[in-house]
Amino acid sequence: MPSHDEIREAQRAAWAGLSAGWEKWDPVIMDQLGPVTTAMIERLDIADDQRHLDIASGTGEPGLTVAGLAPRGHVVLTDLSAEMLAVATRRARAQGIANVEARVCSADDLPFADATFDSVSVRFGYMFLPDLASATAEFRRVLTPGGRLCSSVWVRPEENPWTSIVMDAIAAEVVLTPPDPDGPSMFRCAAPGCVGDLYEVAGLRDVDEWDVRVELVTRSPEEYWAMISEHVSLAVAALAQVDGPARERIATAVIARAGAHEADGAVRIPGVARCIVGTA
Ligand SMILES: C[S@@+](CC[C@H](N)C(=O)[O-])C[C@H]1O[C@@H](n2cnc3c(N)ncnc32)[C@H](O)[C@@H]1O
Repeated sequence: MPSHDEIREAQRAAWAGLSAGWEKWDPVIMDQLGPVTTAMIERLDIADDQRHLDIASGTGEPGLTVAGLAPRGHVVLTDLSAEMLAVATRRARAQGIANVEARVCSADDLPFADATFDSVSVRFGYMFLPDLASATAEFRRVLTPGGRLCSSVWVRPEENPWTSIVMDAIAAEVVLTPPDPDGPSMFRCAAPGCVGDLYEVAGLRDVDEWDVRVELVTRSPEEYWAMISEHVSLAVAALAQVDGPARERIATAVIARAGAHEADGAVRIPGVARCIVGTA
């Protein structure tokens, strides 16, 4: 079992490597995940002077959307990866958003005083943290009394064909080691109540969770394959284990399966995320 420092270092290196793919495919990713941002923000009760902390912010969401809703407020984007946050900073500049700052730090060791923020968000970051309980205690610590925490995670792979199409094709070529249930991986928090229980242990009240449907839309099956193979952590790590001919066979299988989702000149592949809200 790797130490927490080793997990953080592995995550830092992995996301540094993925940042170019996230920037390249930014419009497609943001369209896919937009409904999750909307669902999270609806429950965060954002005021126009909100002080908001976005954890594992990556390329900036949902922090940048919150900043747009809080013109007199301030948003801090945090992430372990300086490379991902550099993309977030470029996106903020391109959108003319000035009330944000980016800080490189780990979610379980936040450089902020108690009760600094009115709200905290964690979109698709929870599952990569070394210690979920201590990170949740940190989120609770930096919230003002009455402040809200809202996060999102992926539900099981069977309900997320947008990733399982590729993972099934890779599994037909190589034996994939099942992820450590206590280590970082995309579907680690898929069980109902997984994150809600952490909230309750950390002392949050009015905990609620609900599912949100998403749809990944690409112009063609080939674009779907290129996009997934260049930015999804699970797929990129698994593809690193295969040789050139196997990668070609995987690409052919994925493109054929994605073709079954073509409609009205686009490929539309569904998925389901879960949002979890609680109050400090
Ligand atoms: C799937 S991305 C999510 C990015 C963004 N929130 C979004 O939804 O588009 C996961 C992010 O978690 C970050 N991460 C992984 N371990 C972390 C840790 N211990 N502390 C803070 N961020 C971490 C990664 O660097 C990566 O940017």
